[in-house]
Amino acid sequence: MKHTEKYPEVDYICLTQPKLLMFNLVLFGPPGSGKGTQSENIVKTYGLNHLSTGDLLRDEVARATPLGLEAKKSMDQGQLVPDEVVIGMISSRIDGSEGQGFVFDGFPRTEAQAAALDQLLEAKGLAITMVLSLEVPEDELIRRLVNRGTSSGRSDDNEEVAMKRIAEYHAKTKPVAAYYDRQGKLTGVKGDHTVAETFETLGGHIEKHIAKVA
Ligand code: AP5
Ligand code: MG
Repeated sequence: MKHTEKYPEVDYICLTQPKLLMFNLVLFGPPGSGKGTQSENIVKTYGLNHLSTGDLLRDEVARATPLGLEAKKSMDQGQLVPDEVVIGMISSRIDGSEGQGFVFDGFPRTEAQAAALDQLLEAKGLAITMVLSLEVPEDELIRRLVNRGTSSGRSDDNEEVAMKRIAEYHAKTKPVAAYYDRQGKLTGVKGDHTVAETFETLGGHIEKHIAKVA
């Protein structure tokens, strides 16, 4: 059953009671865990803004901007783009955006980014509501990324770079989960079921929150 069928009031809430869905979700997880796929579902169902730093960086690369040319070097090597570049890029997006809150996809990826995001939101009287962390075994991550590489055109969708991205995740990004766990905001979600099953679980966590504040 779709969440909007189970909770028909969700659409109504989106349109008429925006405060109830002032919801800032971090969708967390390693490369290939399904953040982009599930963000699309969440955005469609709950009317949130989607902020993917990977998409923003690929757009900069495609337009060959100075930021894009600089970022491409790190992205092609499976390494993180420097914090100051990413933080500078997202601040204006948060400031200039209308709507009901965000799904942060692929951001924050370091503790410095997480602290900067907390500060940016706090300055607007907002905060991260919840962090849902997709858990997928490493062999499945590689399988998905290599498989996506057959059609994505992404220069980092190959086994060699995928393994570097996963190593970078363990070294620099995994501590972000502990950062949010200390704030009592982290929930792990099995991400190796079908897309629909995983969305059902994610939606369940979101709706539990909606039910609490409604
Ligand atoms: P980014 O674009 O953010 O990539 P990523 O996190 O490395 O992860 P992916 O986009 O590869 O995977 P995903 O979790 O979104 O999974 P998806 O839904 O696509 O970052 C790219 C690069 O930019 C980084 O390496 C870094 O250099 C730089 N960068 C970005 N943000 C940064 C930041 N904040 N700081 C510093 N540097 C940054 O799914 C993957 C595949 O699996 C798809 O083909 C999908 O169809 C499939 N799939 C999804 N779910 C399922 C399922 N349940 N079952 C089977 N297949 C599935
Ligand atoms: Mg992605």
